[in-house]
Amino acid sequence: MNSTIEKVILLNGGKELQEQTSKALSAFEGKRSEVIPMLQAVQNEIGYLPEEAIREIADLIGMPESKVYGTATFYSQFYFSPRGERTVKVCLGTACHVRGGMLVMEALEREMGIKSGETTEDFKFSLERVNCVGSCALAPVVMVDDDVFGRVESKEAKEVLKQSDPEV
Ligand code: FES
Repeated sequence: MNSTIEKVILLNGGKELQEQTSKALSAFEGKRSEVIPMLQAVQNEIGYLPEEAIREIADLIGMPESKVYGTATFYSQFYFSPRGERTVKVCLGTACHVRGGMLVMEALEREMGIKSGETTEDFKFSLERVNCVGSCALAPVVMVDDDVFGRVESKEAKEVLKQSDPEV
């Protein structure tokens, strides 16, 4: 990207992101070994890892941007686009899969109008698949943030969302 365009972006939408990134990184010394805690700190502050933050971390620790990005993509805990206020996780581990987890996922995708891995337009919900969350006896399991819904049937997809957000 040409640097003039980059500066304009930073001055407009990027200014706040830049401030949040700097705040999140202020406690670090800039060692390479701090890359994961730095990524976590930025994500805790902003909710995801914008390109500008990856670049700033790379500059701080003297590592190529591609390597910092590569490190972050290795871990499923990191997100690279804005997230919804709540995350709906559909378990597709073995126990949940054999008890209809995929049907529940499809019902939620239809209800939310998005696919797994995406966020609703109003940024209320993000939807993702996870592997066993340790509640196999309740399979199939859906989690909305920390709330666990067990033995969910596909026809209950809307109800699960409603319990998490009455406006649904
Ligand atoms: S497989 Fe879903 S909770 Fe274990």
